[in-house]
Amino acid sequence: MDEVAVPALHLRGVTKTFGHVTALDDVSLTAEAGQILAVVGDNGAGKSSLIRTISGVYRPDAGEILVDGVTKTFQKPSDARAAGIATVFQDLALVEVLDVATNMFLGQVPRRGPFADRKRMEREARTFLDDLKVTVGSVRSEVGMLSGGQRQMIAIARAIRTGGNIVLLDEPTAALGVRETAQAAEMIEGLKSRGNAVIIVSHDMSLVFDLADRIQVMRLGRVAGVRDKAATTRDEIIGLITGSISA
Ligand SMILES: Nc1ncnc2c1ncn2[C@@H]1O[C@H](COP(=O)(O)OP(=O)(O)OP(=O)(O)O)[C@@H](O)[C@H]1O
Ligand SMILES: [Mg+2]
Repeated sequence: MDEVAVPALHLRGVTKTFGHVTALDDVSLTAEAGQILAVVGDNGAGKSSLIRTISGVYRPDAGEILVDGVTKTFQKPSDARAAGIATVFQDLALVEVLDVATNMFLGQVPRRGPFADRKRMEREARTFLDDLKVTVGSVRSEVGMLSGGQRQMIAIARAIRTGGNIVLLDEPTAALGVRETAQAAEMIEGLKSRGNAVIIVSHDMSLVFDLADRIQVMRLGRVAGVRDKAATTRDEIIGLITGSISA
């Protein structure tokens, strides 16, 4: 890694408390363009709080968030989106009774005069999904009829359609079978090869070791360690997660 390059995303000393629960305690993180950073840790370790803080859902009590070396303050999720941060939350937030194209353009449906420009929306949704090699039969299918894997991929496609080059994925494969997990993994690798900085939260160690360039372990709201994948083992990562190994 080039030591002088400015990381796409840099957190310094981020702290977030809820009453007397400290969800994040002096957390730092760097994510580089064209790399995948996996964030792992036990339940309650602070992973989702970290994702929500980076994506403008939570405001940190202390610390700094820098995008391309510039300090940012996010008051709301749309501020983070405007800074190029695309987030796929664990619950996906798709609307099951609406079709694929409409889900991809939620809140931003193209118009022609007073009407929704359905043709344009469907054409753009199709092109975008084809570019990402997402296989859905028709962009007119109701999202509720799709498989878990297809929904996950629609959610990822929607997030990056808004132009994000920093992509956050919270448990993207938790609800998926083996084949769908492999498809989602391929899509995530595609994001990396397009030069995005990708952060993936996952409990799936096989997926983490398949995809990640670096692994950041969270424990009790703190960073327990950061390792290059090539220089660590599952045993070491699990030791950091449980606290039997300290950084
Ligand atoms: N909005 C909130 N209000 C109060 N406490 C919260 C809130 N969000 C997170 N916490 C607390 O912060 C801690 C970290 O939670 P977080 O959801 O970040 O963990 P996690 O690592 O994502 O866990 P999991 O693997 O179970 O998803 C927990 O103790 C949780 O109860
Ligand atoms: Mg979580």
